[in-house]
Amino acid sequence: MKFFIDTADVAEIKDMASTGLVDGVTTNPSLIAKSGRNIIDVIAEICDLVDGPVSAEVAATDFETMIAEGRRLAKIADNVTVKVPLTVDGLKTCKTLSDEGTGVNVTLCFSATQALLAAKAGATFISPFVGRLDDIGGVGMDLIADIVQIYGNYDFPTEVLVASVRGPQHVLEAAKIGADVATLPPAVIRAMYNHPLTDKGLQAFLDDWAATGQSILDSKGGAA
Ligand code: E4P
Repeated sequence: MKFFIDTADVAEIKDMASTGLVDGVTTNPSLIAKSGRNIIDVIAEICDLVDGPVSAEVAATDFETMIAEGRRLAKIADNVTVKVPLTVDGLKTCKTLSDEGTGVNVTLCFSATQALLAAKAGATFISPFVGRLDDIGGVGMDLIADIVQIYGNYDFPTEVLVASVRGPQHVLEAAKIGADVATLPPAVIRAMYNHPLTDKGLQAFLDDWAATGQSILDSKGGAA
């Protein structure tokens, strides 16, 4: 399962990328607004930090302008994936850009039939929003299961990118279903490291080790 990081905060991306666990980045207009930076500059900087796909979203809603924006964003770096909303014009843009060889992430997906359309339009990624569905009383993970099954039935190459992730439980469920990617806010990645038994166990090991008076390294960092 690939992990993308869901932020336009360059400092966070740098920090997370240093773990070697980040396979890509997703942004959206709200995250760009939160960064307070120019979209072209911030996407260029992110693409320098991360080798994998970096999603940059168009802001227009009509086909002609979306295509122009998508082509501009794709020029920033080879690893830019153009993100388009799941609308008629968005899917027309998806088809055109993907025919040109540009990766496309179709976002704001809330139904399996929308996801089917995106796959037929040549999307590289489909982004179903699980958290926002849960927020209105739906079951976001049922949508992921449906899409994974449908894409498998027809061998669609479109990858299922679980978006709007709220916590480690979403990641666990998505992984059990076999989703290709989850895009995670930095706080969710941090939460995935944590377990009280890890903290408790480590403290016990440290206490027992201190009592031995031993050192693995000498003061110069060599063998003691
Ligand atoms: C990422 O591609 C989506 O835009 C993002 O995950 C949406 O998350 P939110 O519902 O927490 O805003």
